[in-house]
Amino acid sequence: MSQSEMRQSRVDPAIYTDPEIYRGECQAIEDDAWNYLGLVSDLPARNSFLTVSVARRSVIVQNFADGIKVFDNVCGHRACRIRSEPKGSGPIRCPYHSWTFGSDGAPIAIPNNDECFGINDDNRSQFSLNAWRVELCGRFVFAKRRNGGGNLRDYLSDFFAPLEQMSNAIGEEVASDTWEFDANWKICIENTLDEYHANFVHPTTFRNLLSSGFQYEYAGRHSGVVTRATDEALARWRKIDRMIGDRPIANENYQHVIAFPLTTFASTFGATFSIQAFTPLTPTRTRFTSRLFLTEGVSSAQVKAVLGDSAATFNRQVFSEDKEVCELMQLGIAEGSGRVVTGKYEQRIRHFQETMAVFCAEAALKTGRT
Ligand code: FES
Ligand SMILES: [Fe+2]
Repeated sequence: MSQSEMRQSRVDPAIYTDPEIYRGECQAIEDDAWNYLGLVSDLPARNSFLTVSVARRSVIVQNFADGIKVFDNVCGHRACRIRSEPKGSGPIRCPYHSWTFGSDGAPIAIPNNDECFGINDDNRSQFSLNAWRVELCGRFVFAKRRNGGGNLRDYLSDFFAPLEQMSNAIGEEVASDTWEFDANWKICIENTLDEYHANFVHPTTFRNLLSSGFQYEYAGRHSGVVTRATDEALARWRKIDRMIGDRPIANENYQHVIAFPLTTFASTFGATFSIQAFTPLTPTRTRFTSRLFLTEGVSSAQVKAVLGDSAATFNRQVFSEDKEVCELMQLGIAEGSGRVVTGKYEQRIRHFQETMAVFCAEAALKTGRT
């Protein structure tokens, strides 16, 4: 059966509610996925840092002289959480007993070391922060907790190049929003992969923007869709487009990509970019952060304001409407029989669900879980 046809399937409601399944999914994501953490430009100077959640884990992303490093946000002394601020600048110093950690994660300053610990260069690395593998896709920073497996380019597969291009086209950040939905994280992700609902749930935004000529792409664990804007949207857009001037990506499309499993990247006309990063908080609650950027190359303050304001208003309208349906989905699917049917414009949901099942099974095998 092709991906474009109707498919009836059974979905165990427990995968949207069960704490054990939630824990297994989070562990697989934390350990085995390459997770997007931020932009290189979020770390503009030596010792700039971000504190980012990856599923249930908190990680430190820090700019050192020898590159961007990522560590578990857990002290090598007695396991205190080190960082609480979402971003800032300064050495990695634990707030409890002031141990300070260097770019390799090992402690470089330990108060009262000689009389209390006697830690020296021979054993220093035993007390290191746990380091993640870090790789870049253009200006996007990704990290993976477990050693082994392929590199980021292999992981992102055919989406590496378009995401790299997108990362290099991103300019000024014009809005950042955090939302929490009372829904399992997969319901939230599946909603972003659902083109079918756009006309009904988003009558004042996506309905006016998207034509129905969806082109779907699949590579590795990821999927994307490209659609041309409606003629009415393009007529309005071209008036603004003329005022923007040259930009790195210029088209008349809406494009959306999921970097499996927790991050989506979207572009409207190559003029605005939206990055949404999802955090599964509990089996039935999810936080996501949405960051909105203008393209590089917009110099006019007036155009910046018009474009930024209209895109931010569009996104907030969409998020409030999606919150409502995601929370209703959570209520229904938890009570339902598990019988569902999906159609042509929900095909990315099927791909995500199938991918997630295989990903978790493979991760469980690696850790000996069943
Ligand atoms: S727990 Fe971090 S320095 Fe003691
Ligand atoms: Fe939506």
